[in-house]
Amino acid sequence: MSETVQLPDTVSLVDRTEGPVLRVDHDRVVGEVHLHGAHVTSWAPAGGVEQLWLSSQSGYGVGSAIRGGVPICFPWFAKGPGDWEPQHGFARRLPWRLHHAVEDDHGVTLGLRLASADVPAGTEGGERWPYGFTAEFSVTFAATLTLSLAVTNCSDRPMPVGGALHTYLAVPDVERLTIRGLEDVRYVDKVDGGEHDQQGAITFTGETDRVYAGSGIVVLADDGVPLGAVRNTGVHHTVVWNPGRDKAAAMADFPDDGWRAMVCVEAAIPYGSEVTVPPGETRTFGQQVVPASA
Ligand code: BG6
Repeated sequence: MSETVQLPDTVSLVDRTEGPVLRVDHDRVVGEVHLHGAHVTSWAPAGGVEQLWLSSQSGYGVGSAIRGGVPICFPWFAKGPGDWEPQHGFARRLPWRLHHAVEDDHGVTLGLRLASADVPAGTEGGERWPYGFTAEFSVTFAATLTLSLAVTNCSDRPMPVGGALHTYLAVPDVERLTIRGLEDVRYVDKVDGGEHDQQGAITFTGETDRVYAGSGIVVLADDGVPLGAVRNTGVHHTVVWNPGRDKAAAMADFPDDGWRAMVCVEAAIPYGSEVTVPPGETRTFGQQVVPASA
């Protein structure tokens, strides 16, 4: 798991009932990533507040998907072509291996890896995606949070990659939230089933589940007060998701009022827009989150 990796002083491997967690405790930042799913669950720059939302009712462990933080959706987004299980692929439900950990004056970078050889026979969804691959996730905890997923095709035929970095951001009140940067961008609305062009800033008045055909920098504000920005790289789509009151109440791993305190802004590769990775090649996508105070 992490036995061969020398951990810097600012990183410890903690065994919790939820599973093994890499804890970062650095002068400039604190953060956590679970080996399960290579799932970042906490990030707070020094002097600042927790920037990620994590459900108090999340499940943990093999087969579960942690609710909150940064789920790595791979190798497909949502249900893939339509009925693929598990939703958002199998990678977030499996343990990853730590393969590097480095610190500097600004923070800590951790690298975690999942290879096709680490996907146990019988893994739900494994049969859908019979490719040899390595997926290398890098997270840098610092004044900004920098995430990247590099996927290498180790098989002898082109490999279609989908997925998302499905970041749950903590917000003061989603009903006061605006997201700018996707004005006039076309989106698929998974709530009403239609396609629309974004009019002005994104606001939240109920369940919101949109796949925007655009990606770059979005800026978040709470009642006009800047909260920060999210920059996606290597993808052409941004997903914006909040379950709203009724859907959250129906989800077992979601506190009833949790919807108000979060929004997902995702660097996404949805079905139909997969990145084709030729044999032997690597494709990388990522996201950077910058708090207003950085
Ligand atoms: C979003 C999807 O990316 O993830 C939503 O667009 C979905 O449709 C949401 O509900 C959460 O997915 P899950 O599998 O973590 O409950």
